[in-house]
Amino acid sequence: MDSIRIRGGKPLNGKIEISGAKNAALPLMVASLLTEETLTLSNLPHVADISTLISLLCQHGAAAVMDGQMTGSGSCSGRSLSITAAEITNTEAPYDIVRKMRAGALVMGPLLARVGRARVSLPGGCAIGTRPMNLHISGLEQMGAKIDIVGGYMEAIAPNGLKGAEIRFEPASVGATENLLMAACLAEGTTVLENAAREPEITDLVQLLRQMGADIEGDGTDRLVINGVRKLHGTQYRVMPDRIETGTYAIAAAITGGTIELTNTSADLIKSVIEVLIEAGAEVVETETGLIVSRTGPTLNGVDLMTLPYPGYPTDMQAQMMALMTIANGAAMITETIFENRFMHVPELARLGANITVHGHSALVRGVDQLVGAPVMATDLRASVSLVLAGLAATGETVINRVYHLDRGYERLEEKLAACGADIERITGS
Ligand code: EPZ
Repeated sequence: MDSIRIRGGKPLNGKIEISGAKNAALPLMVASLLTEETLTLSNLPHVADISTLISLLCQHGAAAVMDGQMTGSGSCSGRSLSITAAEITNTEAPYDIVRKMRAGALVMGPLLARVGRARVSLPGGCAIGTRPMNLHISGLEQMGAKIDIVGGYMEAIAPNGLKGAEIRFEPASVGATENLLMAACLAEGTTVLENAAREPEITDLVQLLRQMGADIEGDGTDRLVINGVRKLHGTQYRVMPDRIETGTYAIAAAITGGTIELTNTSADLIKSVIEVLIEAGAEVVETETGLIVSRTGPTLNGVDLMTLPYPGYPTDMQAQMMALMTIANGAAMITETIFENRFMHVPELARLGANITVHGHSALVRGVDQLVGAPVMATDLRASVSLVLAGLAATGETVINRVYHLDRGYERLEEKLAACGADIERITGS
């Protein structure tokens, strides 16, 4: 298993080009199942989850071509992917894929809408929480599907097709909104999704579906109205920039006391993160292609924050901001409201000398003068990158083990950070 070695304590200065958003690209790719024509996506990130989803779509019968090269072997080059699901030959999404990548379960709505059946593995729990599927299931049932849980699989049929329905999500769920949105595009009649998630990745999906011929109103709000159409068609679409990668590298500048220009992105995508960064003492300047983040002052201030659905502070940026707060003056109370178990990074940050006490859903971070490098263990994607950030700020050597989590969602992380002066290398394991 690979690990990453960092010799920290150096300010990072330079430019980082932000990749396309993994969490936008995955549902956009799944939308290819809604049409027999070709969907071409550009600005795709090179991360492991994208390759995993390509294999899933291919085993449903889709053909995938990456920049002119067939991707059957899982190896891929280029950033443009054409997917053609001319025929759905298999409606099963197996446990082996869905347990590794929960976004695999998004095929359920599109498969039901297109061919009236789907057998999709339950994703199971994961490091950050139990993550149930009840909202996906009950929404599709309200649209006329019959779903049984058999042997760990959701066995769904819609013998009379899907019908429009009024569906309310509680709590708001990104994945359930995406699943139901896609299903509703080909359902008969009108579907209303209430308390729908408003994350920018949902807006990206609405825009793509509209380009494919869907009739959707209300994007950017918590009420989506979808009038079903008989068919969708192929199109070309550019994946939005990754707002979580943007925020992560913004914190890399602040935590190391350097200046990093982030390009191919937009400050608008991470307003809530920028607010905290500025309150903590960083400077942020918007540019035409993104933003410049710097911290020239010697110290940072502790800032309280609470994760919330968009436009609130993102849960996917909680661990990274906690890393920053470990070296801020005073204390910061960080409250996680989206997932019940998303403090797995706390004991690992403590190994670097951080002073953090967890009380239920809140973590009280008391800033220390200096973190000191140590071997640590990555537990999930965002926890892993918080350890990278802490390692960049720490003196001495930090070795982060189990970095396959990072490879799921950060493209060429070591290369991007090294280009800004980080002393970081991957140690290839057996
Ligand atoms: C998406 O997960 C993201 N994943 C997550 O990013 C992100 O943390 C999360 O949204 C919240 O922003 C992708 O986009 C691929 P949810 P998702 O359904 O859709 C509860 C990362 O690091 N819930 O919005 O699975 C759930 O338990 C990942 O990139 C139900 O109760 O999240 C949670 O408390 C991790 N029943 C809340 O809703 C359901 O049926 C929000 O989860 C579904 C969800």
